[in-house]
Amino acid sequence: MALLFVSDSDDPAAWRRELAALLPDLEVRVWPEAGAAEDVRYALVWKPEPGLLAGFPKLELIQSLGMGVDHIFLDQALPAGVPVARLVDPNMVGQMSEYVLLAALRAHRLADRYDAQQREHRWRRHSIPDTERTGVGVMGLGALGRDAAEKFRALGFRTRGWSRSAKRIEGIDTFHGPEGLEPFLAGTDILVCLLPFTPETENIVNAGTLAALPRGAHVINSARGGLVVEEDLLAALDEGHLGGATLDVFRREPLPKGHPLWGHPKVHVTPHVAALTNPRTAAAEVADNIRRIRAGKPPLNLVDPKRGY
Ligand code: NDP
Ligand code: OXD
Repeated sequence: MALLFVSDSDDPAAWRRELAALLPDLEVRVWPEAGAAEDVRYALVWKPEPGLLAGFPKLELIQSLGMGVDHIFLDQALPAGVPVARLVDPNMVGQMSEYVLLAALRAHRLADRYDAQQREHRWRRHSIPDTERTGVGVMGLGALGRDAAEKFRALGFRTRGWSRSAKRIEGIDTFHGPEGLEPFLAGTDILVCLLPFTPETENIVNAGTLAALPRGAHVINSARGGLVVEEDLLAALDEGHLGGATLDVFRREPLPKGHPLWGHPKVHVTPHVAALTNPRTAAAEVADNIRRIRAGKPPLNLVDPKRGY
């Protein structure tokens, strides 16, 4: 029984080492050296080529190398009935919260303005925006969104969150469903997008939703590029409705050279690094899922293919 590792961006040697320590009997094969297809029972994947997984007739588990799974559901030929699980690694949850807190605090404490003043050797003070009057709105209150929202609350921001189903979280104003979106946006000065990419969330940050934000709002997207209509975001930045944006993810990755987001004076770009899978912390979860499958139990963090997350 073998595990097939498929990824262009994760280190197979590190995964092999971590998994060997946890499951010494597990054979790890690295794509494209798959060997006999019928030996492969588990696939550990990031962006597998569409159609690839259908070639393994005894597959019992498709395990994402990331917290997102949209890269797996892009495959129209995904073998039916094979459970798909995602990572929910506390290490990544912490990294994501660091990323969005850094971006939000930079915007809140006028870091770009002071950076520009320093370049000009200019000593000028501006008043500090009121933290308890600044609305931070987190779209998506799952593993990532909830942790981030609770950390914003702890810093004293007027924190709100939006999700598909209703939630009650102490000290956080919660909204849900399409009818909750506009009231959520209306009180959001700093928008943090932490939704999964699904047919329902695609293009959710568009001219209409951006117009519902207060003037001067800052948008942070560290979930998936497909949530945002980039042309609408650029237009809202250029006409002054948005104060700025911090973007870790894009429709096309790597962000093409010459793309207007690269050099936009109000935009911060990072290369999809808000939270990175680390085999040192994530391998235990993968090993647990393999043990569970071997014991006839469902894997942890099983994804609902109908919802797409
Ligand atoms: P979860 O599945 O734990 O949470 C998703 C949240 O989004 C839930 O609160 C869910 O609502 C909400 N949601 C889903 N669909 C809708 C909808 N149509 N309307 C309103 N709310 C909706 O996801 P995670 O928090 O673990 O991760 C979010 C995404 O972050 C991942 O899918 C991935 O794409 C991205 N990511 C990016 C990384 C990076 O480095 N840039 C790293 C890791 C992840 P409900 O609670 O009601 O189900
Ligand atoms: C993930 C990611 O989904 O890194 O984990 O984007």
